[in-house]
Amino acid sequence: MLHILSVNDLTDDFLYSLWSDASKRKGKSNNSLKGKVLTNLFYEPSTRTSSSFYSAMSSCGGSVIPINNVQFSSVAKGESFEDTVMTMSAMSNAIVVRHPDNGAADIAAKVSSVPIINAGDGNSEHPTQTIIDGFTIYNFFNKKLSNLRVTLVGDLKNGRTVKSLVKLLNRFDNNHFNFVSPKNLSLSLDLPKSSYETSDINEVLKETDVLYVTRVQKERGSVHDYSLTLKQLESLPESSIVMHPFPRVNEIPVEFDKDRRAKYFEQIRYGLWCRQILLERVMK
Ligand code: CP
Repeated sequence: MLHILSVNDLTDDFLYSLWSDASKRKGKSNNSLKGKVLTNLFYEPSTRTSSSFYSAMSSCGGSVIPINNVQFSSVAKGESFEDTVMTMSAMSNAIVVRHPDNGAADIAAKVSSVPIINAGDGNSEHPTQTIIDGFTIYNFFNKKLSNLRVTLVGDLKNGRTVKSLVKLLNRFDNNHFNFVSPKNLSLSLDLPKSSYETSDINEVLKETDVLYVTRVQKERGSVHDYSLTLKQLESLPESSIVMHPFPRVNEIPVEFDKDRRAKYFEQIRYGLWCRQILLERVMK
């Protein structure tokens, strides 16, 4: 049984094969998952992750049990997380779990009789976002994930997409990381060998191939406001790309959206492409 709990569950071969199939298929519908059922079990809000799993499943001919707000489920009556997972594993072929606690997906995997896909656990990991983010970089840098200068900015302490992406990119040769945040929101991971930490984005803008912007996670107690200016973004190298896992609050001005370096809406589109293939692999 294939659980996707962490980026560590995604081998390079698995990713290359998934991305290759996603590139060929480009989100087109088929009936590969006809008769299969997915549960979306979300203990935290989501727009992209829950909807793109829904869209991926239905475009492959399968169905979804959408528990997108556990306050309207028996969790509100006091049902435990483990009992909820065991219940849903009795009526579905896989469960996508988002939860505010680190390690929740691992707990789910221990009690589930079907594959668990971690859709974000606390401030720990968000491996399926990293499948999409890796695919975006792979696509726009001629199928390479090495020799890149990657600048990550925002709430690095709580950004689970950042942690998963750094784990992935740190596997490849000669990647250099710039971590940009206020001191109280700095990365809560061991830093990769080639890293630089600063609170001033202007120091590293021109030394950036991939700018990965994240929002401040107020729901995890982070307090800070920042936004990049159009002028700062326009000073990035012409060959760079700008990514954001979204939701965006006010980190990137909407005027930048039409710049060809802005790839955040591509990331959202790739969510469907990649999750279709991921669901086929997990439910086969
Ligand atoms: N990127 C992402 O996880 O977005 P949602 O919170 O809307 O699912």
